[in-house]
Amino acid sequence: MTTELAAGKTAVITGASRGLGAALAESFAAAGLRLGLCSRSQPVLPDSDAVLAECLDVCDEKRVDAFAERCAERFGTIDLWINNAGVLEPVSPLRDVAVEDFRRHVDVNLTGVFLGTRAFVRHVRARGGEGVLINISSGAAWNPYAGWSAYCAAKSGVDRLTECVQAEEAGTGLRCHAVAPGVIDTDMQRFIRELPDERFPDVERFREMKRDDTFNTPGFVARELLAIAFDPAARPEEVVLRLPAEKG
Ligand SMILES: NC(=O)c1ccc[n+]([C@@H]2O[C@H](COP(=O)([O-])OP(=O)(O)OC[C@H]3O[C@@H](n4cnc5c(N)ncnc54)[C@H](OP(=O)(O)O)[C@@H]3O)[C@@H](O)[C@H]2O)c1
Repeated sequence: MTTELAAGKTAVITGASRGLGAALAESFAAAGLRLGLCSRSQPVLPDSDAVLAECLDVCDEKRVDAFAERCAERFGTIDLWINNAGVLEPVSPLRDVAVEDFRRHVDVNLTGVFLGTRAFVRHVRARGGEGVLINISSGAAWNPYAGWSAYCAAKSGVDRLTECVQAEEAGTGLRCHAVAPGVIDTDMQRFIRELPDERFPDVERFREMKRDDTFNTPGFVARELLAIAFDPAARPEEVVLRLPAEKG
């Protein structure tokens, strides 16, 4: 049902070279969406009639704005913009975190989301009509984790930023959500499981998830995000939301 509603729409996904962003790109392409994809390394799908793929850093204001313009030129309307690009590091007690590492983290996970959001808001305002913004958040926006001060702070910031934009754009056709996708077994999770206890005391919980296979699959997350964006029956009222656990 959702697939039929989504076919022919255009979505932008940042951080589309691997992990969740790459899986979303592949699922969305299979569902018949046209895609604008970006990441620092080559996005998972090559440039084609239905895909605009670019290598860029989401912290680069000029490149993000130019990418948004090129997507609009190529596809006309961008219906859905997903700010997915993100990093976890630095992971360490705050007392050991270097300021340049903290700044770089905030630059990617918060300023990068700001830049993508701003480009999409401007696009929707310029063309009129509806649009859906999804900023990928995390349970770390709600829960403090020792060792993840930068990540928790930036993801909380993503939630508030998304709520502010929704308040600002309430009179337009833009709908904004910050979505925590659940735990997905990507490179980020592999990196987490290898962390030493002294840098990340909760590490055992994440190793257990691997043993018990309690992850949300990328296919499930893709279906949920398409439903949020394009299925009127699944339209959430909340701006900030968490996807349910796929495996009960
Ligand atoms: N995996 C989970 O369990 C989980 C749970 C909750 C939330 N999340 C969130 O989901 C999103 C995706 O995570 P993931 O697990 O798929 O991570 P991942 O496997 O590490 O992939 C991260 C993606 O972001 C891109 N990226 C990183 N920095 C970038 C930059 N400066 N500019 C452009 N692209 C950049 C990477 O591509 P390049 O390196 O090629 O640039 C890659 O495509 C993140 O926002 C993460 O916080 C993940």
